[in-house]
Amino acid sequence: MQRIRNAIQLTGLSQGELADLYSYPAQLDAPWVRANFISSIDGAATSGGLSEGLGTPADKTVFLILRELADVILVGAGTVRAENYGGAHTDPPRRRSLYDRGLGGERDGAPPPIAVLTASASVEPGSRLCTDATVPPLIITTAAAPQERKQRLTDAGARVIEAGDIAVTPKALLRTLDELGLRRVLCEGGPHLFGEMLEADAVDELCLTTAPMLVGGAGRRISLSAHDFRTLMARKHILLDDDGTVLTRWVRRR
Ligand SMILES: NC(=O)c1ccc[n+]([C@@H]2O[C@H](COP(=O)([O-])OP(=O)(O)OC[C@H]3O[C@@H](n4cnc5c(N)ncnc54)[C@H](OP(=O)(O)O)[C@@H]3O)[C@@H](O)[C@H]2O)c1
Repeated sequence: MQRIRNAIQLTGLSQGELADLYSYPAQLDAPWVRANFISSIDGAATSGGLSEGLGTPADKTVFLILRELADVILVGAGTVRAENYGGAHTDPPRRRSLYDRGLGGERDGAPPPIAVLTASASVEPGSRLCTDATVPPLIITTAAAPQERKQRLTDAGARVIEAGDIAVTPKALLRTLDELGLRRVLCEGGPHLFGEMLEADAVDELCLTTAPMLVGGAGRRISLSAHDFRTLMARKHILLDDDGTVLTRWVRRR
């Protein structure tokens, strides 16, 4: 019997070992976009309309370490609205320790900001995104979005940035993050944003959790886009948990 290369049992891995397994490239001179998704074995990205129903303890562990390694968490407004997104609550000592090791994190232990992409600035200023966050969220939006909405978000503590006229291209989005010095990008979806970024060849890697379940219904897959295209990926590792959860890391082939 042959062992599968790079297949690792998750149980027993320390936080430091996990951080090493998921560390971003050491020298980044441009944003590196990592997407993180969960799906059922049969490819559903949601159960009951949300990703939450798919989660497992192993997924939660990796979800948190990915947040701790990131400079910014990028998310589409559809996901923010559907999942009532709040700010990231990462572990301050771990963020400091990652910073000290040169792996990301933050010198003062602060969490990464959530950056929401929204053409229309349709995010509620009273939502958890603004009320349950220790660092101001970034609202990356357009000149065409109603001024009043942008002002209300600014008044609620968000940092509103116009990065396009009626939409924000992936290129303009990444340029904006780069200008802010946010190069370790963690994109948490949703499928429309991921599909658009993939189609623009703007995704460097995918971390995918396969939850040990089948989900009935017509749940969508993790990427949605108008066209059929292929992006070849190379497998970096597979983590296995005893409950059947499989966590894979895929990096774009160059
Ligand atoms: N399985 C998973 O891991 C996972 C992860 C994330 C989400 N989800 C699920 O996916 C669903 C939501 O995903 P979704 O695909 O419907 O929405 P989404 O990708 O999160 O967000 C789409 C929205 O992003 C904004 N947007 C996208 N492209 C843009 C551009 N070029 N310029 C400006 N704004 C842009 C628009 O916001 P405006 O409409 O505000 O203009 C658009 O409506 C939820 O059910 C959620 O639970 C699953």
